[in-house]
Amino acid sequence: MASWQHRGSLQDLNICLPRILFLLALLGGVSSNKECLILQSAEGSTVSCHGPTEFPSSLPADTVHLSVEFSNLTELPAAALQGCPGLRELHLSSNCLQELFPGLLAPVPRLRILDLTRNALRSLPPGLFRTSAALSTLVLRENQLRAVGARWLQGLHALGHLDLAENRLRSLPVGLLASLGALHTLDLGHNLLESLPEGLLKGPRQLQRLHLEGNRLQKLGDGLLAPQPFLRVLFLNDNQLASVAAGSFRCLKQLDMLDLSNNSLSSTPPGLWAFLGRPTRDMQGGFDISHNPWVCNKDLVDLYRWLDANRHKMFSQNDTRCAGPEAVRGRRLLDVAGLRSL
Ligand SMILES: *[C@@H]1O[C@H](CO)[C@@H](O)[C@H](O)[C@H]1NC(C)=O
Ligand SMILES: *[C@@H]1O[C@H](CO)[C@@H](O)[C@H](O)[C@H]1NC(C)=O
Ligand SMILES: *[C@@H]1O[C@H](CO)[C@@H](O)[C@H](O)[C@H]1NC(C)=O
Repeated sequence: MASWQHRGSLQDLNICLPRILFLLALLGGVSSNKECLILQSAEGSTVSCHGPTEFPSSLPADTVHLSVEFSNLTELPAAALQGCPGLRELHLSSNCLQELFPGLLAPVPRLRILDLTRNALRSLPPGLFRTSAALSTLVLRENQLRAVGARWLQGLHALGHLDLAENRLRSLPVGLLASLGALHTLDLGHNLLESLPEGLLKGPRQLQRLHLEGNRLQKLGDGLLAPQPFLRVLFLNDNQLASVAAGSFRCLKQLDMLDLSNNSLSSTPPGLWAFLGRPTRDMQGGFDISHNPWVCNKDLVDLYRWLDANRHKMFSQNDTRCAGPEAVRGRRLLDVAGLRSL
């Protein structure tokens, strides 16, 4: 008989489950370095394994929540999930997974959350999500993805939250999101994206949060955001944006937060700002246009007027300064705006 130790922490477990019954158990029972904690409730078992371990070789048949994290796993057995058809959450973050078996998820059609944060995935096998119609959250951040297939996400009709941040993506196929009607949160931040296909956001019906920060985007076209009138939060900071088309924000009737800081904007076209904030409505969050090389001449009159009306929602006011012309270099945009819009 191997002895077991209590090393896992309870913080990840849902301690609100009714009629909690603790059972510290050793799963698999072969090698002595396997440490998993099993928590049973009326809903089913929660299995949580941390630290150096192998994937548990047998799971309670009623497992609904499985975590094997911080374990440096390099692969999963092909039949890993065969024994737990009711699985709803699978947490595999902070391992070293390089690839997944195409049929991995076939036995668990009720899966709602899949978290693969901080692994070493370079691609996903085609068909991985063929049976994942219930999946609502898919987290692939901090992997090594270099490209995504246009059909990877096909059939994920319930997917609300997709996180592809901190990968190595340079481009995206136009149809990537086509079947993701339920998507509300999309994180593409901190990749190597230089441009996005104009039709990328056709598909989701109610996108609310879009993260594009930390890429290499150089321009924003009229069409990208047009399909998403319910967008509330938009991060475009830390890119190389030098131009934003006049109609880019035209459909954004609900935008509450806009971050354009740390780009290469020296000017914006007339009409761009009219669709956001006052006089129509207050942005609930605010906006940030700091750390751009603004050229504070008459071409900015439109922005000056808008700033004056929306200054109460402006972040980083002291870091939003003119880079030119010479006479006003280093002055705060807000102060120049106040003078010019009088
Ligand atoms: C995982 O690998 C990292 C880097 O090699 C190491 O620092 C860490 O201790 C390992 N973790 C476990 C649980 O073995
Ligand atoms: C600006 O963005 C670049 C990446 O595009 C980043 O490396 C840099 O730290 C950012 N600077 C500031 C002041 O945030
Ligand atoms: C902005 O700068 C002014 C003076 O230039 C200073 O009085 C004020 O405290 C600064 N505000 C912030 C938020 O740093």
